Amino acid sequence: MPTKLADDIDEIITDPRTYGDEHLYHQAFASLRAHDPVHYCQPANFRPFWAITRHADIMRVELDAANFLNGPRQFLVTIDDENMLEAQTGSKNFARNLVAMDNPDHRAYRALTSAWFGPKMIAQLEDKITELARETVDRMVAMGGQCDFVNDIAAWYPLRTIMLVLGVPPEDEPLMLRLSQKVFGSTDKDTGGGDGMASMVEAFQAFNDYFSAVTADRRINPRNDVATILSTATINGEPIGDDERNAYYLIVAAAGHDTTSSAISGGLLGLLRNPDQLAKLRADPALMPMAVDEFIRWSSPVKHFFRTAVADCEIGGKQIKAGDSLMMCYPSANRDEAVFEDPFAFRVDRFPNKHVAFGYGPHLCLGQHLAKLEMRILFKELLARIEDIELAGNPAWVEANFVSGLKALPIRYHA
Ligand code: HEM
Repeated sequence: MPTKLADDIDEIITDPRTYGDEHLYHQAFASLRAHDPVHYCQPANFRPFWAITRHADIMRVELDAANFLNGPRQFLVTIDDENMLEAQTGSKNFARNLVAMDNPDHRAYRALTSAWFGPKMIAQLEDKITELARETVDRMVAMGGQCDFVNDIAAWYPLRTIMLVLGVPPEDEPLMLRLSQKVFGSTDKDTGGGDGMASMVEAFQAFNDYFSAVTADRRINPRNDVATILSTATINGEPIGDDERNAYYLIVAAAGHDTTSSAISGGLLGLLRNPDQLAKLRADPALMPMAVDEFIRWSSPVKHFFRTAVADCEIGGKQIKAGDSLMMCYPSANRDEAVFEDPFAFRVDRFPNKHVAFGYGPHLCLGQHLAKLEMRILFKELLARIEDIELAGNPAWVEANFVSGLKALPIRYHA
């Protein structure tokens, strides 16, 4: 642990390249927690913000939604990109999706789909998801003992699941994958094209065009899917706006699989690097729910979300002013020594595991039950049918500072 904060810590935690190196960003957050847990950041080319790195402070802010708003600033965007966005769309901010909304809108919009994503409805998908998990492991078996787990396996299975829930046909899945990689991995040359906001705006437009057509279809041919709910949704007797509807589709479609796929590959890497933990999980499959929470804590695919302070206040001894932005650094909270015993140890039986990888409070991830169910089913199937899994090359991480995880995980195995 460095004895003081690095002089360029503000640049380190905002630079997308930092997130391409798991040790680098965990070390940066560990030094922030130790030396300045509520740190005022003024990186070049970003509007200033407070980096909130301790678990307790993040929970406090996220629980107090009346005093810390989700809109309008959602995640790190460079000043150049904000200006480009404004030139193209007339606003420095993205369309109002669920995470960017505050009450009363947030409550009303979340209620539209909350039953769909609740534990009861999600449990009804178990058979279908089990079938998808079997097909996924069949594909792994057919690949003959070697694959890139991220691109061949983990990218597809959560995508299939969320498209099933949304009601998007399988032939459109490659398009959905390409577009969401452009949204989240826009700063990485391998995933998004590396040209930042231009890539992102292009992907948003393509998502909007695609889902406008889906809406038109569901109004004529309603089905039992989330697309039909969104196409016909009303709030206070009025149909919801086109922008809000498209932003809703986008957050469910994009946030619904990239995150889960990163947690799946991050979890597998954790098991491969810790063979004793893999053996423990194989010996006692009842540990699976705990293991899945550990995979999610360990990988923390969402690196931050922002909040905006409504009034002057104090957090961790620092004076925050009304209008200041706060960055909730989830991977940092999930390695917080004050909450987790031996936080850098990967333990499939970690309990309790109060990670905040799904956020906390009223915006707590809508898809958390779905993500956990998918992961439990896949790993059960995978561990039952695949043996002697080992790394067959170096893992690599996406260089992106918002939602990111592994971009390559070469493995060798026996079916
Ligand atoms: C391991 C996988 C996942 C992780 C790590 C994750 C993480 C997160 C985080 C950190 C938030 C913000 C919470 C906050 O601000 O307090 C969030 C919100 C959200 N997530 Fe997830 N997510 C995952 C899977 C999913 C899935 C499968 C869906 C599919 C529906 C989904 C849909 C959403 C939506 C719609 C929101 C906005 C909720 C709101 O603002 O009310 N996520 N997620």
